[in-house]
Amino acid sequence: MLRTHTCGQLTKKEINQEVILCGWVHSRRDHGGIIFIDLRDRYGLTQIAFDPQVSKKAWQTADKVRSEWVIRVKGKVAARPKEMINPKIKTGQIEIKAQEIEILNKAKTPPFEIETEIKPSSIKEETRMKYRYLDLRQGRLQRNLVFRNQVVKFIREYLNEKGFLEIETPILSKSTPEGARDFLVPSRLQQGKFYALPQSPQQYKQLLMIAGFDKYFQIARCFRDEDMRQDRQPEFTQLDLEMSYIERDDILNLIEDLFTKLVEKLTSKKILFKPWPRLTYKEVKLKYGTDRPDLRFGLEIQDISDLVKESGFKVFEKALAEGGVVRAISVPEGAKLTRSVIDRLIDLAKNLGGQGLAYIVIKENSSFQSPIVKFLGEKLTQKIVQKLKAQTGDIIFFSADKENIVSSILGQVRSVLAEKLNLIPQDKLAFAFIIDFPLFEEELENGHFAPSHHMFTRPKDEDLDQLNKDPFKVKSYQYDWVGNGIELGGGSLRIHQRELQEKIFQLIGFSKEKQEKFKHLLEALEYGAPPHGGIAIGLERVLTLLLDEPSIREVMAFPKTGDGRDLMMETPSSVEEEQLKELGLKIVR
Ligand code: AMO
Ligand code: AMP
Repeated sequence: MLRTHTCGQLTKKEINQEVILCGWVHSRRDHGGIIFIDLRDRYGLTQIAFDPQVSKKAWQTADKVRSEWVIRVKGKVAARPKEMINPKIKTGQIEIKAQEIEILNKAKTPPFEIETEIKPSSIKEETRMKYRYLDLRQGRLQRNLVFRNQVVKFIREYLNEKGFLEIETPILSKSTPEGARDFLVPSRLQQGKFYALPQSPQQYKQLLMIAGFDKYFQIARCFRDEDMRQDRQPEFTQLDLEMSYIERDDILNLIEDLFTKLVEKLTSKKILFKPWPRLTYKEVKLKYGTDRPDLRFGLEIQDISDLVKESGFKVFEKALAEGGVVRAISVPEGAKLTRSVIDRLIDLAKNLGGQGLAYIVIKENSSFQSPIVKFLGEKLTQKIVQKLKAQTGDIIFFSADKENIVSSILGQVRSVLAEKLNLIPQDKLAFAFIIDFPLFEEELENGHFAPSHHMFTRPKDEDLDQLNKDPFKVKSYQYDWVGNGIELGGGSLRIHQRELQEKIFQLIGFSKEKQEKFKHLLEALEYGAPPHGGIAIGLERVLTLLLDEPSIREVMAFPKTGDGRDLMMETPSSVEEEQLKELGLKIVR
């Protein structure tokens, strides 16, 4: 080894020892003839003192080095003078009195300063991406990737302990629709044919159940060609798992236990609700306006359709007459919201497809300030206030429209206000499972149904006869794991009978050719497929949440930009004419 210790290791215990350290020059200061260098590696910083009295030659060399040069230093560990002690770092009590220095490599001046603190400066995203290997030297990303490793190690050990087998599935694969576009890879040996990169190992893991590996998991790379967001990358990692002979709650209990222990062992965050609530899709859509509610705060939405059926207020009556709903949200101490905040909420409602957003401010002596009390009348207004348990100083917001519009408006009003009124506690995790999803969501143009999770999800036994009558009424064994308003994972019990799988294919409008693509699965279902189910957790999303990062890019070593490029490697890139020829491909411009 070129070094005896790392830069994060030495303490008072090693005083007087002779040591050799290697690392990057983090900073260099000249103090009355003595040169101090903070030497950095991934373990920490160690202060090196170059005193011309100790070695003139070393001092002269130290005078030449610049930031990010790589050096090797030999010297003796010494206690720092009292006034130079840094209690914030582990090595803050000592320094190295340098005897020798060797320059291992010089460095160009980096495009940005390397920071050891957690949330560094505002470096341009493009610069960070282009020089990702330098960005990765930052304390923030070093810590994030170390944490990522700890999390994956914890998961592996936990699942191995429970008898799960880690099995790899192909990357060169066939389209498994998870709702995104596939990335395709042309085949040279079978010209004109393509592999698809897996959007998830969904089909393989089901086939593994049929093969008898009744507890499978994989830290699986997934590829989805979809529009990017803060919480989406074209390639990302799932903790993917599947089990045979289980019921829904077996999977949920496993995930709850695994991640409760993980959070408690590896973080200082507090889980708000234990056991984690299991809430139905219907309930959360009503109360929170979304199927991934942030449960760190209240502000629940309430339906008041019945109460205002004969209100005389045209806006409400019209919405109800058209099959819509009227819902409201009461905001404690919301009277202090400024007019401009309220106006912004009204704009938000309009942007989400609503006609407006009515409100009532409850003032002293039960008087009201509101554009709609004149339509509702005092008596009905009092009833509404009572139903919502609103008090003096509160504000109530109303939305009347089709159910999905009302949900999305009040769901967002809820989030915006929680932020504005500081209702979101820090360092708390509100986990929950959402259950009983409908099997299908919106009808596609061709009159068929779209699976709300994916097409392998099993309908609830008690709803099977509705499949032929009213498929939208069918609920499924789908479940999502949500945390602080983020969808962290999703899964389901699966269909394990061919006829039922074919029925679902029909309902979602799969042509014969499309069904043909799944014939391996349909056939496998006929060879003794056990009942099975599973889940996949978005690893980066969990890490982002646990590390309070704003984007999943901060927990990945080499992420892509919003338009799917790697600015460092310059991917995607064009290829040689020769390569295209071998593949039988021609670019049409
Ligand atoms: P699903 O499509 O819900 O389910 O994906 C599971 C979880 O993966 C994460 N995720 C993503 N993370 C980063 N970037 C993306 N582009 C991205 N897309 C999804 C989310 C999501 O909850 N095969 C099923 C699982 C199953 O049924 O077992 C599946 O992939 O956190
Ligand atoms: P109008 O009679 O259209 O002026 O509306 C009276 C009040 O009701 C205004 O404060 C509007 O913002 C509000 N409003 C209008 N349409 C809706 C709606 N669909 N849901 C809730 N409030 C609405």
